[in-house]
Amino acid sequence: MSARYEFAATAAFGLEGVVARELRRLGYEDAKGFQGGATFSGTLLDAFRANLWLRSADRVLLYAARFRAETFEALFEGVRGARWEELLPAHAEVYVTATCARSRLMSVPDVQSVGKKAVVERLKAAYSLNWLPEDGARYHIDIHIHEDEAVVSLDTSGAGLARRGYRTLNAAAPLRETLAAAMLLVSPWRAFRPMYDPLCGSGTLPIEAAMIALDRAPGLLRPFDMEKWDCADKAGMESLRREARERFEAAKARRTVEVFGSDVDERVLRLAAAHRAQAGLNDFIRLEKRDVRTAELPAAGGDIVTNPPYGERLGSEEEARSVAGALRALWQKGGEDWTLTAISSRREFEKDFGCRCTRRRKVYNGRIECGIFSFDARSARKAPERRPLPPPRGPEAKKL
Ligand SMILES: C[S@@+](CC[C@H](N)C(=O)[O-])C[C@H]1O[C@@H](n2cnc3c(N)ncnc32)[C@H](O)[C@@H]1O
Repeated sequence: MSARYEFAATAAFGLEGVVARELRRLGYEDAKGFQGGATFSGTLLDAFRANLWLRSADRVLLYAARFRAETFEALFEGVRGARWEELLPAHAEVYVTATCARSRLMSVPDVQSVGKKAVVERLKAAYSLNWLPEDGARYHIDIHIHEDEAVVSLDTSGAGLARRGYRTLNAAAPLRETLAAAMLLVSPWRAFRPMYDPLCGSGTLPIEAAMIALDRAPGLLRPFDMEKWDCADKAGMESLRREARERFEAAKARRTVEVFGSDVDERVLRLAAAHRAQAGLNDFIRLEKRDVRTAELPAAGGDIVTNPPYGERLGSEEEARSVAGALRALWQKGGEDWTLTAISSRREFEKDFGCRCTRRRKVYNGRIECGIFSFDARSARKAPERRPLPPPRGPEAKKL
């Protein structure tokens, strides 16, 4: 039960460093970013803890094998070589997915079926069986082949970690929960300061902010595949869940949390209210119907963190420009005491907003390339006059 493994917490492009930092904060000192996430080592219980607490990662994978796979024979031997019987019981349901890129082996269905056969052969030999019933818990094995290098991993999470369990209703263009959390983690906002999203839609940013402020584990409401595994330490996992519940209860009793959300659309606000209730955060998030053009800042100092319409998926270009202008006007009402962080796919976002950001980070929202732009009133107060934006120089100049 205390065997150690190497894990990868996968993440959207641009969030690898955020995930590595989260892991280190959780105590995994060897956490290191790579393109696609961050690696760390530990026991299965450590992987469970990472699933429960990571806010910006997509899933936690256990590395089972890594080898060169130029032929199907090499693939079969490489997969069969892993000690699957350490993790999978005789009745495991073996589910294999694959991705192939720039490799000799490019047929995904063939890679899947050879991979599955190799795992099954290994288990049959280990358990001295002629066939496997596959009527137990699901074990999702992923084979990723890139430039003939195969990485075989076991998914400990199940559904992606963005699925916290509170967001069940669909608004247009919702922000992925993991990206919303990452925005908050890279923004100047800190849990003791007020946070305001004046374009809150279905409530993702305010809910993620309240969860951070209240020390609430993002995975508290949902199950993970590994919880059903025979090899998992059930008592250990239950005790980590209990500890997470206690931390949330203690923070609720102790902290005053000031999280605000508003939107012009009453229908999405109803979704936000339902999500807030499902997250158990009714007492900690204030929601109001407001047009950003006439909104007021809800406290003396704090941080706006928001996801304005891009003018692609939702609304028009003109709307995107005018909302950006209104956001700036709102932020300026706070003088030096408010910062603003926005995510946008618009290459002209700073121009629409009217001044240069103090920090910019490239990320992907689904398949859309975006920037997370932070504006800090203290430095930006002088910036518009001192550093005027250069005139646009054609498509090249528009790259983030
Ligand atoms: C990209 S969505 C935000 C999605 C949100 N982050 C979520 O996860 O559901 C942009 C939101 O801006 C709101 N909006 C557009 N124009 C607005 C305005 N003038 N005032 C307030 N809200 C506005 C829309 O109703 C929409 O909910």
